[in-house]
Amino acid sequence: MSMKFGVAVHGGAGSPASLSDGPAGAAEIGFGLLSGGGCALDAVTQAVVRMEEDDRFNAGTGSVLRFDGTAYMDAAVMTSGGECGAVACVTSIRNPVLVAREVLSTPHILLVGDGANDFARSKGFGEYDNSTERTRERLRRGMEEYRKGQRPQWPRNWNSWTIDTVGAVAMDGDGNFAAANSTGGTFPALKGRVGDVPLIGCGVFAGKKGAVAATGVGEEIIRKVLAKTVYDCIDGGMHPQQAAEKGVGLYDRSVSVGIITISENGLGIASTGEMAHYTKSE
Ligand code: GLY
Repeated sequence: MSMKFGVAVHGGAGSPASLSDGPAGAAEIGFGLLSGGGCALDAVTQAVVRMEEDDRFNAGTGSVLRFDGTAYMDAAVMTSGGECGAVACVTSIRNPVLVAREVLSTPHILLVGDGANDFARSKGFGEYDNSTERTRERLRRGMEEYRKGQRPQWPRNWNSWTIDTVGAVAMDGDGNFAAANSTGGTFPALKGRVGDVPLIGCGVFAGKKGAVAATGVGEEIIRKVLAKTVYDCIDGGMHPQQAAEKGVGLYDRSVSVGIITISENGLGIASTGEMAHYTKSE
C-alpha cells in the first residue's frame, strides 16, 4: 500500500480555486478523524458537513434558492461495505448529508420529498432556514436581470445560476473507503428535478478498491453513470488520477464536470473547468 489513509474534498464544478480554503478546512477535519483512527464514513460525512455550513458553496447553508426563496437539496453517502443512504428534494434542513447517513439505519437507500423531510424531523433534524444574505441577494439580482432580459430565457438558461455540489472521498487506516456529496441542485430547473447526487453510481460510488465523487451537470453525469464508470477503471487497476482524467475525458470541455477519486494507490482530481479542492494523505 502506498497510502495509509487520505481524504479529498471538492467545492463543486465551477467553484473558483480562490475558494480552496473551504475544501482545505473540510479535508483537515476528515484527515484529523482518520489520523485518530476514525472511519472513512465519518471522515467524508464530517467533511461534507463543513462544506454544507459554508455559504460560498451550493449545499446546505448557501444552497441555490428557487423563485419562492426555498432550497431543495440532495445528498448521499456510500461505503465500500456496500452501505448506501441518500435523500432528494429535502427542504429546511441544515445538513442533508447527515440525513442521508441516517437512511443507512433503514432498509432503504433513497428517500425523497415529504417522506425524506418527515424522516429527518422524526430523527430530530429541526427546521432550518438554508438561505443567507448572500444567496438571497444572488436570487434578487438574478431575477432582476432575468426580468430585464439580461439573462437567456428558459430553458436556455437552465442550470446557469449556480456552481455545483460539494463532495468528499476517503480511505481509512483499515482500508475502508467512503464517498459523500451534497447539493442545492441546479437553478433554474423544473420543480421536482433531481440530479446525480442522490443516485448511487452517478454522483457517488464506493467499493473494495476505492471511492469516487462526481460534480457537475447532473443530467450529463447520470447519462454516463459516471461515479461507477470511474470506479470500474480503478477496479481494473488504473491509478485514481488516471481514472479521474478518463472520466472527465468522456465529456466535451464545454460540459461542467469534475471528479475526485481515492484508492490505496493515492488520490485523483480532474475537472473540465475550475474546481476548488484539497487533498491530504499519509
Ligand atoms: N450535480 C448536481 C446536480 O446536477 O444537481
